[in-house]
Amino acid sequence: MIPVMRPWLGPEEAAAAAEAVASGWVAQGPRVAAFERAFAQHVGAGHGVAVSSCTTGLHLLLHLLDLGPGDEVVVPSFSFIATANAVRYTGASPVFADVCEQTGNLTPDTVAPVLTARTRAVLAVHQGGVPADVPALRALCEPRGIPVLEDAACAAGSTYAGRPVGAGALLAAWSFHPRKLLTTGEGGMVTTDDPEWTALLRRLREHGMTVSAADRHAAGGAVIEEYAEVGFNYRMTDIQAAVGLVQLGRLDAMVARRRELAARYQLALSKVDGLRWVQDPERGTTNYQSFWVLLPDGYPGSRNAVLAALADRGISARRGIMASHLEPAYRGHPHGPLPVTEKLAGRSLILPLYHQLTEEDQDAVVDALTDVLLAGAVGDGGR
Ligand SMILES: Cc1ncc(COP(=O)(O)O)c(C=O)c1O
Repeated sequence: MIPVMRPWLGPEEAAAAAEAVASGWVAQGPRVAAFERAFAQHVGAGHGVAVSSCTTGLHLLLHLLDLGPGDEVVVPSFSFIATANAVRYTGASPVFADVCEQTGNLTPDTVAPVLTARTRAVLAVHQGGVPADVPALRALCEPRGIPVLEDAACAAGSTYAGRPVGAGALLAAWSFHPRKLLTTGEGGMVTTDDPEWTALLRRLREHGMTVSAADRHAAGGAVIEEYAEVGFNYRMTDIQAAVGLVQLGRLDAMVARRRELAARYQLALSKVDGLRWVQDPERGTTNYQSFWVLLPDGYPGSRNAVLAALADRGISARRGIMASHLEPAYRGHPHGPLPVTEKLAGRSLILPLYHQLTEEDQDAVVDALTDVLLAGAVGDGGR
């Protein structure tokens, strides 16, 4: 079976993790601090605060805004459900905006109609690694006093307007889950240029402690910490950070290889009439964290039947990005029309793409998809 994604991990990561274990300091410590500095620098941010996942990072950055019932945060429904869930954790309500069909991202045109007097933030997602036009969203929102935050879960190594995604972000949250390019098993990071937010995020991820456990240890003597507010345990371990530091060194090579493979897909798939695929937006470059294709308009088969037919041929493709509002967890949650979200979520699929994917295997994916689509073999209308 050709998998949809495979992390690129080698003996260097294993050695780094073993070294962390041998050091005796396995919880958040010096390797986390080093990973934070290195990651923030790589994405052009002033500071990084490592956390246990992107989801906990999103919770923390929304927590900074002091949200509660009655407050609204605009998010795309077209995202992994964690984006909307993080808003729910704060007591605020996610308000779903539609997305652009080419990028899968929020735009000023999709966001403007859902802004209200209760909107406290917009959480833009760089979906599947495709950079959102954050400057345009900020131009819409900031004059209204609404901050634009970034869910950059998928976007390490993507660029916008010549700068890495993350550069200049108010607050951005990143994921190091193995479906992403850079992985620490589980893990995440919040980046920002603001030193005060950084200090607060560091406290909040560690139970609200005024002096971190690592700093108390380093100080040697009896340092008594205080708990200034109710915080969380959202820490990353030094074992994960050790792996992350090695992975960060591979990131540029991963992006280059994915872009090379994506270009091969685009060329090979251009023979299928009407098929569309993810590509760079006007002013940016994607890391192709997800290579999704959109079935031709009028194609008679269902997307799920295409997935099943590919699985029969040994190819593990996946449904495209989900529409959160269609999941049972959001049944009854009010929302306006989301036609592009529903089209993309219902008619797209993600093809295998990973660093070690061979051109032979990629050709097998292209041949299988082409056969399935050209034969119309799965024109069952709804399986
Ligand atoms: C857009 C987006 N946000 C958030 C998440 C959650 O990331 P994590 O698994 O690190 O919590 C994901 C993961 O797939 C994602 O794609």
